[in-house]
Amino acid sequence: MRDVSVIGVGITKFGELWDRSFRQLIAEAGAKAILDSGIEGKDIDEMYVGSMSSGRFVGQEHVGALVADASGFSNLHIPSTRVEGACASSGMAVRQGYFSIASGINDIVIVGGMEKMNDVSGASATGTLATAADQEWEAFFGATFPGLYALIATRHMYEYGTTKEQLGQVAVKNHANGALNPYAQYQREITLEQAVNATPVAYPLGLLDCSPVTDGAASIVLCASDKAKKYIDNPVKIIGSGQGSDTLALHGRRDICTLDATVHAANMAYNQANLKPKDIDVAEVHDCFTIAEICAIEDLGFVKKGEGGKAIDNKITTRDGVIPINTSGGLKAKGHPVGATGVAQIIEIVLQLQGRAEKRQIKNAKIGLAHNVGGSGATSTVHIMEAM
Ligand code: COA
Repeated sequence: MRDVSVIGVGITKFGELWDRSFRQLIAEAGAKAILDSGIEGKDIDEMYVGSMSSGRFVGQEHVGALVADASGFSNLHIPSTRVEGACASSGMAVRQGYFSIASGINDIVIVGGMEKMNDVSGASATGTLATAADQEWEAFFGATFPGLYALIATRHMYEYGTTKEQLGQVAVKNHANGALNPYAQYQREITLEQAVNATPVAYPLGLLDCSPVTDGAASIVLCASDKAKKYIDNPVKIIGSGQGSDTLALHGRRDICTLDATVHAANMAYNQANLKPKDIDVAEVHDCFTIAEICAIEDLGFVKKGEGGKAIDNKITTRDGVIPINTSGGLKAKGHPVGATGVAQIIEIVLQLQGRAEKRQIKNAKIGLAHNVGGSGATSTVHIMEAM
């Protein structure tokens, strides 16, 4: 296998983007990534794009070809493939791009992710997101994602004594980070009091425990590592790539507080990179709800199972903590355009490892991890990256 590096990143503003179309968003993210890397259209061997439900959100399928077309490459006839795995769609797309270069078939691949979720009503967006749950056992009975993650949260509280305040602290931290990110949907801090007293959504989760409904796109350029320095001085190497799956419905799981798909994906990535959780300097984890961040830091091995809440109290996940988590603001504050999230997480890690994260910059970050989840944990990807 050949080594693979990220040589360019591009991201749009995340938020309610009424004045921009789906096609414009992906073209903007792609163009920024291409400019950042210094490649030209003719250098691109293949494209992969993650999108969860563009057909239901904006009435547009056949997104692989659309991305090539919107980027102005239709005359180059570049192979372009859509990858779908709910909210993990673009983490999976990165893995496909990675494989295609590692195998020796391609040298340069663009991987994108996008979703435009605000063109439909809130109820319709909730229904569309619920298509990533088990239709027969969950969605049919009215379960939504806030509801499913609320089940995980109440069980975590029962098993480990996790509190609503600890959930709230996750939101406070991620909003503080998002306040420093010019691309974030919510660039404002919140207090713990606001977090715990926010409008209830599904007990114990309130409005400020939830990631929002977001429009946005993100794109990266991958390159064979032996050719990467031809384009930029500071490529970021992907040193571990893992993916796992699990039951679609929560009730089939061994333990609903553990995302075994994440444990599996993380083990694959750590083994490939020959690293342990303690070697990671900075991580973006899938905090679609505050409880999801607590489970993620446990499942990724940063803390023991059950100690995620305490870790938040002890401030080990803040920007100056032992393992800074979600310096971008996470899904909570940066926003969660579902198909774009996996690539956007990798972009934050690349910026941190290249020293380009501006006000959010972590000192001496050499190794970073990005963790992307589909649904309530039926799919998970983990990528580990190293500054070269
Ligand atoms: N965090 C912080 N503020 C939020 C927010 C969030 N998650 N969601 C909405 N807001 C703010 C809006 O900006 C708006 O503020 P304003 O009045 O100052 O403009 C206000 O709250 C009301 O917004 P609205 O869009 O009417 O909220 P809503 O009630 O329709 O939606 C949720 C709120 C929580 C239901 C919605 O964000 C949601 O469904 N989130 C979960 C998404 C999801 O499941 N993703 C997949 C995960 S697996």
